[in-house]
Parts: sequence; structure tokens; C-alpha cells
Amino acid sequence: MSDKCKKIYITTPIYYVNDVPHIGHAYTTIIADTLARYSRLAGMDVFFLTGTDEHGQKIEHAAKARGKSPQEYADEISARFKYLWDEFEISYDKFIRTTDEDHMIGVQKAFEVMFDNGDIYKDVYRGHYCVSCETFFTATQLVDDEFCPECGRSTTIVEEESYFFRLSKYQDRLLEWYESKPECILPKSKRNEVINFVKNGLDDLSITRTSFDWGVKLPEKLNDPKHVMYVWLDALMNYLTALGYGTDEKRMEFWPAKIHLIGKDILRFHAIYWPAFLMSLGLELPHHIGAHGWWTRNGEKMSKSKGNVVDPKEIADAYGLENFRYFMLREVPFGQDGDFSQRALIDRINSDLGNDLGNLLNRIIGMSGKYFDFAVKSDGVKTHHAAELAEAEEIFDQVEPYLYEVQTNRYLEELWKTLRIANKAIDTGMPWVRMKEGKEEEAMATIALVANILAKVSVLLHPFMPRTTQTIAGALGFDIDTESYRKLIKSNELLGDFTIEKIPPLFPRIEEPLVETPAEKAKAEAEKTKKEVKKTEPRKNEESGANLITIDQFFQVSLKIGTVIEAEEVPKSKKLLKLQVDLGEERPRQIVAGIKEWYSPEDLKGTQVCVVANLKPAKLMGMVSEGMILAAKDDEGLSLVRPEQPKRPGSSVG
Ligand code: MSP
Repeated sequence: MSDKCKKIYITTPIYYVNDVPHIGHAYTTIIADTLARYSRLAGMDVFFLTGTDEHGQKIEHAAKARGKSPQEYADEISARFKYLWDEFEISYDKFIRTTDEDHMIGVQKAFEVMFDNGDIYKDVYRGHYCVSCETFFTATQLVDDEFCPECGRSTTIVEEESYFFRLSKYQDRLLEWYESKPECILPKSKRNEVINFVKNGLDDLSITRTSFDWGVKLPEKLNDPKHVMYVWLDALMNYLTALGYGTDEKRMEFWPAKIHLIGKDILRFHAIYWPAFLMSLGLELPHHIGAHGWWTRNGEKMSKSKGNVVDPKEIADAYGLENFRYFMLREVPFGQDGDFSQRALIDRINSDLGNDLGNLLNRIIGMSGKYFDFAVKSDGVKTHHAAELAEAEEIFDQVEPYLYEVQTNRYLEELWKTLRIANKAIDTGMPWVRMKEGKEEEAMATIALVANILAKVSVLLHPFMPRTTQTIAGALGFDIDTESYRKLIKSNELLGDFTIEKIPPLFPRIEEPLVETPAEKAKAEAEKTKKEVKKTEPRKNEESGANLITIDQFFQVSLKIGTVIEAEEVPKSKKLLKLQVDLGEERPRQIVAGIKEWYSPEDLKGTQVCVVANLKPAKLMGMVSEGMILAAKDDEGLSLVRPEQPKRPGSSVG
């Protein structure tokens, strides 16, 4: 990447509106924001895109489960993403929604182009479909012949008329692309995975559905109104429609994208389908697709049902948004999974930010004030510290590629090396001794060297921590902008004469975690309730023991863990769902449960529940129910009681 490339287009995935934003979404967006900010600082014309993915069966279900129309529901969740990105000062240039009119027109246009050039044909599709992942799988990909290899939920066999995209036709051209552009997929190690997948053969891709409505209709000229587009075709096209493809194409000059940032779980869509669509449309391919790893909690994938999801807003509010940004971008090598812990975050803040960066600034504020009344001159640096300056400048000159290869951790590591050079220069230069010896010029040179290194670090760190670095720059008497970037970084200039301003420490030490984990919250809640119960008068029936049961009575109830293998709505019932639950018995139990308001069948399939297994069968709306599932309900709604870790169906609870 050089500054010759003046226009630069950076994207995040568009986020599904079936879930509220979590740390994984924040991670992708923060990486993209950092690249966009860096590129702007380097004087490039940036277009940074993010947004929400709002069509498809999954969203239709999620809306229905909440008694809302898909549009109403999408409006609500999309706004939450936008609100969070605004709170996080994400510098996006456009927030696209796949329900935007111009997006839908653009997708139809793309479909038409691909259809007209013979890449789309009509046939019948038969396959195993996972609604939750909006993906078809071949029989060999399924786990135990039935379950989705991605999310473990049960798949359904779908047979329907469908339009197909001739993906197989592009197999060789895709392989040529991966070969000829070794950096098209980042990190490079991920490229082999994709190559192997493609070498195994590509089937044509079903790109329309007739089984639901919530999607973009086909172009009118096809006159086939029962089809809507496959959500991934619709979604991927956002990268083009955001630039006006098919409507107002002025911004198409930003194409091809410099980088599509994504998580590793959606690499196949971006590294195979997307370039094939682009080839069919006769458009250039993106320069890079950058796939990051997952954030986990205690080694486990985060999910709502496990209750281990980290709320990025809560963490940013407690620890500081920019500290949180620094942590995410420093902690994990790009492409690898990272375990989120407050301890690791605290260590980074105290050590990298507090000790290395903050203390260095404090040291020169102190020394420049004490010896020179804060007035610093840089002219002695090259005479007295030429070697250290050259060493640091070599690093500053060479860090940029790390950023565009998304090795943000390496980039930061390199910057921190220069802080060490600065610290060492103080320890060996000993300005306090030089002052005593009357060698003021030497003392001044050391202080100025450190101030200049800090100035350059703050410029290069600016995209990661925009406000904090502006504060550091302010203390050193300059502003971070394209001009100071050009002077201090590109032209290796020094600050000249300037006055340091005393500012309070930027990174106060943190001793203990500031946010309670869900488990701690639950414990605190329980403690509180216990105390409150103690305070209140004991209830009469408890006092008299009328409400108490013996342990033997408790053991008369048979509680078991079951896996929901099928779930469907009960026609005409607002409340009931009919479930087939595997309790490790000969055949699954049919359980009819009044949970439809809170769960859709798709939410339940493949998940586990806790069942009262020895309840007398009862009939609900004419259907036999052979058990009851346990759930807790409060003002905020209903939540099923589930095992924390998956358990063998039929495991007893007690
Ligand atoms: N809508 C599709 C993307 C379409 S792009 C044309 C989608 N949306 S998503 O909301 O499910 O996921 C968006 C991104 O968040 C993905 O890149 C995914 O990898 C990332 N993450 C979701 N959970 C994550 C973690 N726990 N950790 C890191 N990122 C993960 O997929």
C-alpha cells in the first residue's frame, strides 16, 4: 500500500439484526475504524462502510417470535447497532441497511446482469438447510446426518424451485486468483483453507428462495414473484450498492475495496462466492479479505444461551473506550482466537499504557518543568542522540505495512519498541546528572529526543486511540492531523522548539475488575435477595412448614436434560410450540409448551432444556404433551432453564 492509492474503501460485515451488538461485532468494527482513521491521517480519500443485514428467514422468525413485523424489528435492532457505533465514535462514512431502497435496486440490477450473461439458471433445489446460519450443507457436511456443522442446530431438508448461480464455472478462475495474489486473503494461513475447499469442487449455488417472503424480489423482467433472493447474495452486494451500484454510481470510483474485514466464520462467503459474483459482474476483485478469529470466554464461544456474552459498551464505559480499543487490537494476533478477560485488559492498561506510555510522558513533563520551565528545543537531538533517533525512525518508517496486513498487534509492538528506546535514553543519558555537571545542552537533547519519540508514537497511535493521543500531542504543543503526520512521520522532521504542558496522568492504575461477570452478578443478586428476605417478616406458611417438602418428596419429581430435535408452531395458538425432545429414550417425547412469545422454533432446535419427565401426559389443544420444560419468568420475560454445559440426553437433574 502506498499513498499513490488515494482512494481507499474499507468495509465491515453488515451485522444481522437478530442479535444485539456484542464484543465480536465491536472487534471487527474497531479494526476497520482504525484502518480508516489511519488512511485518512495518511491523506487518503477514505470510504468506510458498515451497516446491518436485515433480510432472510432468520430475521423473519426472530421478528415473529417477538410479535413484530420484520421491518419493525429490523428498524429497532439496526438502530441499536448504529447507536453503539456512534457512542464508540466509529468514523463510518455510510451505514447501509439491506432494506434501503437503493440497495435493493442495486441487488436486482446485479441479478439481472448475471442472469443476462448466462450465469443464472432455474432448476430445483434439494438440500439440507440451516435456518440459523442461512446456509445449505451437503449430506457429507452434516454432523450425525442431521445437524448443522456450524451451529449444531438441526437442519431441514428443503426442496424447492430455485435460481442457481454458476459457481462451478468460476472454480479455475478463483484458484488462479488465490495463486496470483498471495495476499488476497489475510492472514495468509487462511488462504490455504480456501484453496483446499475450492479444489474439492464447487457446486452451483442456489440463490433464490420461495419458502418465505422477507427478502429482495427478483428483477421485474423475470416475472417470478414467488422468489426472493438468498440472503447472502443480497448481503454481499451491499459492498457495491453502498457505492451506488445500480443507482447513482458516482462513488463506484472507490471500487475495488482495499479490504473487507470479516470474522473467520464468514470467510467462505467472502473468499469464494463474493469474488465469483464480481467476476460474473465484470468487476475488479477486492485487494484483501481479512478474516479475524473469535473472541471467547474461558475458551468457549460466546452465545446468548450460555449467558457469557461480553457487552462492549459496559466494558468501554468501565475501562475507557480507547483503552478497550487498544486492548482488542494489541492482545490477539490477527486471525487467532482470543479469550476475553478483564484481568488481561487490566494488565494491558496498567503495563503498556500506564507504565510504558504514561510514565514516559510523566517523566519528561517532570524533567522539562524542573530544568527548563517546560520549554524544549529539539536542535541538539541529532548531535547527542543520533543513533537512538535513527533506530526509532527506522521503526516508524516500517510499521505501516503491519497495519494493512491487519497485524495490529505487531504494529503496536513495534511502536512500543521505540518507547523502550526512549526510556533507555533517559536511563543512560541521566539528564539529572548532566544538569549537575552543567551539561544543560545534553540534558535538553535527551528530553527532546524522548518528547519527539512520544510525538511520533502519538501520531502513529492516533488511529487506535484518537482522543488520548490528541491529548498527548496537545501536551507536546501540536495537533495530530495529516500535516503533522506528513512532517513527523513521512519526512522524519522533529518538533523544533515547543512548550510542554503539564497534564494529569492519562492511565490511572486499575487494581480490581470493574465490571461484574454474569456469574458474579447472579451471585450478588442472590445475596441481595437473601438479605431482603431476611429483613422481611417470614411468611406464615413457611413458618408453619406448610410450604416445605421433604427431600424424598423432591426426589419423586424426575427432572432430566433433553435435546430439542424438532420444534414447530401450533397452528392457531399464540402461545404454544410443539417440541420433540430427546430424553435418551427409545423415541422422543412430544412436549407442548407455552413459550412461543419468547422463542421461535429455530431458537430451540438443537438446544437443550430441563424437563419434568414423570408428569402425567396431558392434552393441550388436542395434542398430547408428555412432560413439562422448566423456565424462569420475570418482568423482562421468560428464559428457559438449561444446563451450563451440554449434557447427554436423559441426564438426571437434582
Ligand atoms: N450478516 C452476516 C455478514 C454479512 S456481510 C456481507 C453476519 N453477521 S453476524 O452479525 O452474524 O456477524 C458479523 C461478524 O461478527 C462476523 O464477522 C462474525 O465473525 C463476527 N463475530 C460474531 N461473533 C464473534 C465473536 N465472538 N468474536 C469475534 N467475532 C465474531 O455474519
